[in-house]
Amino acid sequence: MRAIFFFLLISMAAATAKASHAQSIPNQIHPLRPTAGSAGRHVPQINCLSWRLAVETNNIQNWKLVPLQCESYVGHYMLGKQYRDDCNAVVVAAIQYAKTLKIAKDGKDVWVFDIDETTLSNLPYYARSDVAFGATKFNGTKFDGWTREGKAPAVPGALFLYRTLLAMGIKPVFITGTKEEFRQVRIANLKKVGYHSWVKLILKGVNDTGSSVMYKSGKRAELVKAGYRIVGNIGDQWSDLLGDFVGDRTFKLPDPMYYIG
Ligand SMILES: *[C@@H]1O[C@H](CO)[C@@H](O)[C@H](O)[C@H]1NC(C)=O
Ligand SMILES: *[C@@H]1O[C@H](CO)[C@@H](O)[C@H](O)[C@H]1NC(C)=O
Repeated sequence: MRAIFFFLLISMAAATAKASHAQSIPNQIHPLRPTAGSAGRHVPQINCLSWRLAVETNNIQNWKLVPLQCESYVGHYMLGKQYRDDCNAVVVAAIQYAKTLKIAKDGKDVWVFDIDETTLSNLPYYARSDVAFGATKFNGTKFDGWTREGKAPAVPGALFLYRTLLAMGIKPVFITGTKEEFRQVRIANLKKVGYHSWVKLILKGVNDTGSSVMYKSGKRAELVKAGYRIVGNIGDQWSDLLGDFVGDRTFKLPDPMYYIG
């Protein structure tokens, strides 16, 4: 009798375990469930959070578009609290690091800032329905039109980092992939949102060909040659932070909307 009862108990436990498999999975692996159908059948579907993590960690490279299925996910991320919190976390870490530095009084300690999605935000442009947070093909003519308007707001936290570094005696240097022809419009845009002083504002000249990594490495090499010490470097693209003379520490801001190699 006891043996039968015990057997029943075990069978019931096994059946319950099977039936409530989904509920019994701990929270942290629950987000993986949507990629597997019932009975473990594979459903070809992108987990947008996994995609974003892979993009931010530079595991996925040379991607051209936000996956169509992730347009809404990326839109909610960018417009919501998470993007702001993620930016602020980077800024807090950058300031913590900057506080450990011994800044010389010679004005040669510089911090390299990228501009787009690092200093200025193109989110009003990317949120347009025809741009779809990077899920539609990049249109240079359209994007240049937006840049020319000079209406980009500051990236969350970036202005605070800029002001804090300035107050510490660390001089900002902007290195951007924006073309030289936009110099005046960019200066006006930077000043309008609160960036008013810098050591150098380096834009892409007609002879600056090649990859972004090569271009930015070359410009940083010139800075170092001129006696500047790059104590920090912040950008939304890995191409801002890889290559030569990247600086003593680099900081990566989030950007799941586009990739520049
Ligand atoms: C890019 O945008 C411009 C301006 O809106 C438009 O005239 C042009 O057709 C677009 N190009 C492509 C390839 O979609
Ligand atoms: C670009 O290179 C050409 C050829 O070497 C040179 O004549 C021109 O002055 C350069 N332009 C700039 C803006 O440096």
